Amino acid sequence: MKILVTGKGGREHALISALHNSPGAHSLFTWPGSDAIASLASRAPATDVPALVAWMVAEGIDLCVAGDESLLVAGDGLANLCKAAGIPCWGPHKQSAQLEASKEFAKQFLVRHQIPTAAYAAVSSIEEARAAISSLPVVLKFDGLAAGKGVSVCTSQEMVDDFLDVVFTRQQFGPGRLVIEECLTGPELSVFCSIADGSFHLLTPARDYKRIRDNDDGPNTGGMGAVASRSIVSPEVLTEIEDRIVRPTVAGLVKDGLPYRGFLYFGLMLTPDGPKIIEYNCRFGDPECEAVMPLLSGDFAQYLFDAANGTLNPDLITFSNHWSLCLILASHGYPESSRSGDAISGLDTISHATTFHCGTRLNNEGNFETNGGRVLAIVATAPTLTAARETAYSEAAKISFPGRQNRSDIGLLHFANAPG
Ligand code: AMP
Ligand code: GLY
Repeated sequence: MKILVTGKGGREHALISALHNSPGAHSLFTWPGSDAIASLASRAPATDVPALVAWMVAEGIDLCVAGDESLLVAGDGLANLCKAAGIPCWGPHKQSAQLEASKEFAKQFLVRHQIPTAAYAAVSSIEEARAAISSLPVVLKFDGLAAGKGVSVCTSQEMVDDFLDVVFTRQQFGPGRLVIEECLTGPELSVFCSIADGSFHLLTPARDYKRIRDNDDGPNTGGMGAVASRSIVSPEVLTEIEDRIVRPTVAGLVKDGLPYRGFLYFGLMLTPDGPKIIEYNCRFGDPECEAVMPLLSGDFAQYLFDAANGTLNPDLITFSNHWSLCLILASHGYPESSRSGDAISGLDTISHATTFHCGTRLNNEGNFETNGGRVLAIVATAPTLTAARETAYSEAAKISFPGRQNRSDIGLLHFANAPG
């Protein structure tokens, strides 16, 4: 098979590695890809998405896998263009990807299908917002893509005033509405699911660490680490999530005529009133994907090909019941900025962990250097969380680059009572 994966980060490196490890000799391609990914997949020569689709047709690509959501929602939508060109695509159509791209669309979907979520109101002005906010804390969300900066969990009136100023007065994210949400409490959980039309397959759940500093302190990032394991939640809670959240979502997509073949990521909060949805993402999580993929064995390539053609065959893949821990190494200045060009040493000394490249490039001497905010994902799997954590951290200690940042509490915080 000829398979192309879009994207260029650690998630895509992990997906392509899993495809590379699938039985059978497949030809792998990527766009835009990265220098590290290029050792497993050839980079497609294209300047934009329509040109990429034309190239895939000419090359006879059998399957297109969407890594991140950006191409799914931009222009005419990657999946829509693939369908018109007759290429099976793993990733939903543009109209379905609004579940991630528009907070208000997602909220209306959740209410329509009676799926547990925070109460909300959507407003268009500062005056409407002030009238709708009756108590603190409250969560304010810009209704659009905002590079991870569009959500504020406000615990004071000052925070409310600041965010309203950013959204409506300064219009920092461009024009758009605001969703005002009830503030939920409880541990967060990332649940991943493969969906092919009306059927679904739950994958190993994970928990990510979004803040830059230990103890969940400091600004939000793309994710500084993740823990994945089937044991992360009890079978009872997982069944409740499946019955009250996943199944009604899949049925709702069918009912609303929203075509969906791809991963769907449920960002959940396990509240005292049961699991509730915080957000949908129409893709795998990053860095959760880097943590989950090393637990997978079987024929991932055939699994995705069949699923993109409408048939889910869960038996083609299995997930080990081990624990996986992913530690992100980030560059100087992240997340406010990032520094590129810092030489990375020690990569070839990693022997007991898997390394995925999130933001690196080869320099003129052929050595990897930093190229972005999140630089590397170091992933270890083991029968216990403690062992996975020890290995990931001791292996990561072999890598150095100027300005390196990482959290020291991945797998410790939030896991005080975890088995192992
Ligand atoms: P989102 O971009 O919607 O995932 O929100 C980013 C983060 O804000 C989430 O991971 C939560 O930590 C927090 N958050 C979002 N919505 C709520 C809510 N309704 N209640 C409490 N925290 C929330
Ligand atoms: N780990 C959070 C995300 O992928 O959005």
